[in-house]
Amino acid sequence: MKQKKAEIGMVGLGVMGRNMLLNIAEHGFTAAGYDKDPKRVAQLQQEAGTLPVQSADQVADFVALLNKPRAIMMLVPAGPIVDSVIHDLLPHLEPGDLIIDAGNSHFTDTDLRQKTLEEKGLHFFGMGVSGGEFGARHGPSMMPGGPEPAYSRVRFVLEACAAHVSGEPCVTYLGPRSAGHYVKMVHNGIEYGIMQLIAETYDILKRGLGMSNDELGALFDQWNQAELNGYLMEITSEIFQKVDDETGKRLIDVVLDAARQKGTGMWTSQDALALHEPTPNIDIAVAMRNLSGMDEVRSAMTEKFESSPQAFNGDQNAFIQQLRRSLYATIIMTYAQGMAQLRTASQAYEYHLNLADVARIWRGGCIIRSALLEPIRAAYARQPNLLNLLLDENLGKTVAERIEDLRVVAQTAIQLGVPAPGFTSALAYYDSLRAGHLPANLIQAQRDYFGSHTYERVDERGVFHTIWGKEQE
Ligand code: 6PG
Repeated sequence: MKQKKAEIGMVGLGVMGRNMLLNIAEHGFTAAGYDKDPKRVAQLQQEAGTLPVQSADQVADFVALLNKPRAIMMLVPAGPIVDSVIHDLLPHLEPGDLIIDAGNSHFTDTDLRQKTLEEKGLHFFGMGVSGGEFGARHGPSMMPGGPEPAYSRVRFVLEACAAHVSGEPCVTYLGPRSAGHYVKMVHNGIEYGIMQLIAETYDILKRGLGMSNDELGALFDQWNQAELNGYLMEITSEIFQKVDDETGKRLIDVVLDAARQKGTGMWTSQDALALHEPTPNIDIAVAMRNLSGMDEVRSAMTEKFESSPQAFNGDQNAFIQQLRRSLYATIIMTYAQGMAQLRTASQAYEYHLNLADVARIWRGGCIIRSALLEPIRAAYARQPNLLNLLLDENLGKTVAERIEDLRVVAQTAIQLGVPAPGFTSALAYYDSLRAGHLPANLIQAQRDYFGSHTYERVDERGVFHTIWGKEQE
């Protein structure tokens, strides 16, 4: 019997690609998979069972399986492989066909690829997909950006396969060109920032307060039941309980303390700096991953200056409550920094992002999903052009009420000798934004002294230059 042509194709049948394809097929869409590696193709067919999935290990055969105009998604590692897949597909495609890069590509690569393909009459989407292997199979959050008319072609497939929250799919058209990949990049930057704050909380509780893994697991589980509810909290509580099969110890205690990275957090910080948007919680999270990986200097420093944290001798229960409230406030500030970056980028790159939509599609499926995303969505729904989430009436009040707790946590960590740069950076971000006065007047004076860079005055318009001292005489 002749099979119906596939509505959508998938290039790259690693676990993410296979899972996404099976998710699509399970929702009643006909799908075709392609991978150069016949073993992966066979594995897809085996996992697909009776689902409407076709496959090929030759690109021409694969393209022939697809309905026209074709819609082809690719889930391959970011970088040159994306270009090589496009290169292999091109001779077999026709104007009007659509390619969706669903990997973590750098947004500038996406802009370039889109321009090149548009010139050939092809449509190109950059789409961030979050949720890992489980999400791909059972409902990810998806962040597509590209030519809007082409979106209607895949909208129903994406909406059916996405995670759903309150009946709404965690996917929507985000904006032109690289808007989707940009939003996914910032998602990952926020992910880094929150993971760093959770890691610092763990360090304070474990090395500062001497809590056991059992106690930590129970505490994170309890915190996950209330305002801090979220995926990263949930998996953290499970991690503390996992036993290592080899040693019988808790696995967390035999995991090396050097965090690796694929680079999306760093890209977020790099572009925030380029846009002059402060994102200290993302920056410090990247820096601390880098620092954790510096084996040589870390062991040299430990050998020479080793110090263990001092014992905490205050009221443990009261402090744990302050730590919980501080973690919540600093997570809000991390989202605030990421959302502010999206707002700035949206203007600079003309993405026309709807930030309420971004928060809405992050409520489910993705790694940073949390109960907080509903108040964040509501904040932007009320004020689409909100300058910063800290200026939202509800979230702003929530943070303001926790700032003195955060000050105690920061002071305690510093006193104990447990590094907590995520907590202290968030506090400095907050204190700086509301200070009314910053020491930048001195920086201006110094610049004018050594470089005649001029300065502005508080009492007069214009730019000024002064002979400040001996060196200039
Ligand atoms: C997601 C994750 C995903 C991935 C990152 C990890 O949203 O599903 O963010 O994109 O796990 O690649 O990034 P690092 O290797 O940089 O930590």
